[in-house]
Amino acid sequence: MTMPWHTGTEPKVQSSESQLIYEEIIRQINDLPTLPEVVLRVAEMVNNPRTSAKDLGKVIAHDQVQTARLLKLVNSSYYGFPQEISKITTAIVILGFNSIKQLLLSSAVFEMFGHEKIDGFQRIDLLRHAIGTAIASRIIGRYVGHPELEELFVAGLLHDIGKVVMDRYFHEEFVAVLERSADENITFHTAERDLLEYDHTLVGQMLASHWRLPDKLVKTIENHHPPASAGRYSREAAIVHLADILARAKQIGSGGDNVMPELDPWSWEIIALNPQKLEPILQQLEEEYPQVVSLFELEE
Ligand SMILES: [Fe+2]
Ligand SMILES: [Fe+2]
Repeated sequence: MTMPWHTGTEPKVQSSESQLIYEEIIRQINDLPTLPEVVLRVAEMVNNPRTSAKDLGKVIAHDQVQTARLLKLVNSSYYGFPQEISKITTAIVILGFNSIKQLLLSSAVFEMFGHEKIDGFQRIDLLRHAIGTAIASRIIGRYVGHPELEELFVAGLLHDIGKVVMDRYFHEEFVAVLERSADENITFHTAERDLLEYDHTLVGQMLASHWRLPDKLVKTIENHHPPASAGRYSREAAIVHLADILARAKQIGSGGDNVMPELDPWSWEIIALNPQKLEPILQQLEEEYPQVVSLFELEE
């Protein structure tokens, strides 16, 4: 069976019952909106060395919502520019193509998260957890000299996006997993593997593919629990895996459970991070979190 989002990864489900469930997930995901056209076009243009800031500005300017959002982000205290930036081209020159791409992508992802409280679980806590993981991923990246810091931020932001889809479209199952994890004091991931034929990493991988995100992001999302399975993207997956745990250590939001997952022992080696750096990394996470939260206009 050829999957429209085929990424070279075989489905993790095998029995015929699982196949049905898998097909149901496919159907739901294919019904989800794709990313806004402007985000896709910008992502494409940024990869073309002949694209100028002016070209990129023209495309973004077509979308008033994205333009307004981008200017607001660029003028936020997080970036701290002394003068107000009112032209999109200036914003592009100052921030650089990749940052613009990641900012647009991040704000589109935020649209996916709702803020309401459902069945005792605050969806906004999932968003806080995602932001905490995104920031921690970027900080770890900085410590180890990773060249794609903004991409790590997006990977962290998206790592549990499968949970958001489950909450929206497989709500009963999502709630059952939350309950099982609370009753048995086990992680969300363990509970979903106990109860379901699929898990949030599979759903996240499918959504990321449906959104035509780069393979690196797809694989990182899919393998943030066993990072070594991410193949050539193991380092990124391990960074997000560690960041997920650090966000929990700082009690930022909730991943849907109250149990700290175990750190994959290979992570230190894969990331090439000295565990002694953990303290300063956690400190920076604490400092940066409120700044980024205000950037996205979330209340603490
Ligand atoms: Fe996860
Ligand atoms: Fe997580």
